[in-house]
Amino acid sequence: MNVLVTGAAGFIGGHVAEALEARGHQVTALDLRTGEDVRDATALGRLLPGVDVVVHQAAKVGLGVDVADMPGYASVNVYGTAVLLAAMAEHGVGRLVLASSMVIYGEGAYDCPRHGRVRPGPRSAEDLSRGRFEPRCPRCGADLVAAAIDEDAAADPRNAYATTKLAQEHLAASWARETGGTAVALRYHNVYGPRMPRDTPYSGVAAIFRSALEAGRAPRVFEDGGQRRDFVHVRDVADANVAALGGGRPGTLTAYNIASGEPQTVGRMARELAALRGGPEPVVTGEYRLGDVRHIVASPERAATELGFRARVGFGEGMKEFATAPLA
Ligand code: UD1
Repeated sequence: MNVLVTGAAGFIGGHVAEALEARGHQVTALDLRTGEDVRDATALGRLLPGVDVVVHQAAKVGLGVDVADMPGYASVNVYGTAVLLAAMAEHGVGRLVLASSMVIYGEGAYDCPRHGRVRPGPRSAEDLSRGRFEPRCPRCGADLVAAAIDEDAAADPRNAYATTKLAQEHLAASWARETGGTAVALRYHNVYGPRMPRDTPYSGVAAIFRSALEAGRAPRVFEDGGQRRDFVHVRDVADANVAALGGGRPGTLTAYNIASGEPQTVGRMARELAALRGGPEPVVTGEYRLGDVRHIVASPERAATELGFRARVGFGEGMKEFATAPLA
């Protein structure tokens, strides 16, 4: 197929472009770093004719610094996607694979012994400062047991980035309804691997720990280190994009969790990386960030059943490579 990859010079986009080419697809690359902006309808008008699928990875990512980042997130992620979808409609491109994120869920799913499945709101500063990190039942305050979240869970975006990722899904769903196009949203969990960008305010925890270790500093593990994430290898994420090319249904957006299915605590990830690099040992600081969620653990089943995608890189194997792999 002829595939336009936006964000093709980025961490995930670069791996996606390589995986597509390795499977014999023709890749057209678009990236701000190589001078073409997804918000530029003229550039899109030049690149889109003859394209079968757009794989949209271009985005401003991460948590950002503060609300001053909001216009940048909205411009690149929301406006950029809107320009892209309008151009796809104009040039008759009927398939979209969208890089979405698990951050749209907010806090993960939990079971209360009395109230069953619940979705707790943000944790209070008071609880967090007392070291009470586990969310409580929103109805009775009881302790909860974390459960795997599936794609039908309600969205609860907690920051500007998450809000723009959800907006992208909604725009893509409207585009699909109005044009009969097929949209697939891949909700990436915590992606890591070779060429991950170094430590910046926009980096995920794996890059932050890896950069600290490389500089001889101890990884600083927030809360008590018991918060869980699903670390999924970037080559698996690239394979998921290839699997998604023929997925979905016309006239609608179908969303999939892209996860390893092997959740880990942030503390364990820090210890594993530190051990693989020969130290220094992580420090558990008890610090917290108000916007953070405690556990976000996904069910990868829908992607397995409908796209035939399963992650192949195990946590131990992936971290072993990541411990010494080049960062960008
Ligand atoms: C991350 C990304 C988000 C992406 C999502 C899925 C960032 C900032 N967040 O969300 O954009 O959509 O994965 O791929 O890129 N932590 C530490 N020490 C640190 C930094 C963080 O212990 O130095 C902890 C945090 O408190 C949190 C966990 O690590 O509990 C994960 O943090 P992070 O990777 O920043 O954010 P996610 O919420 O997982």
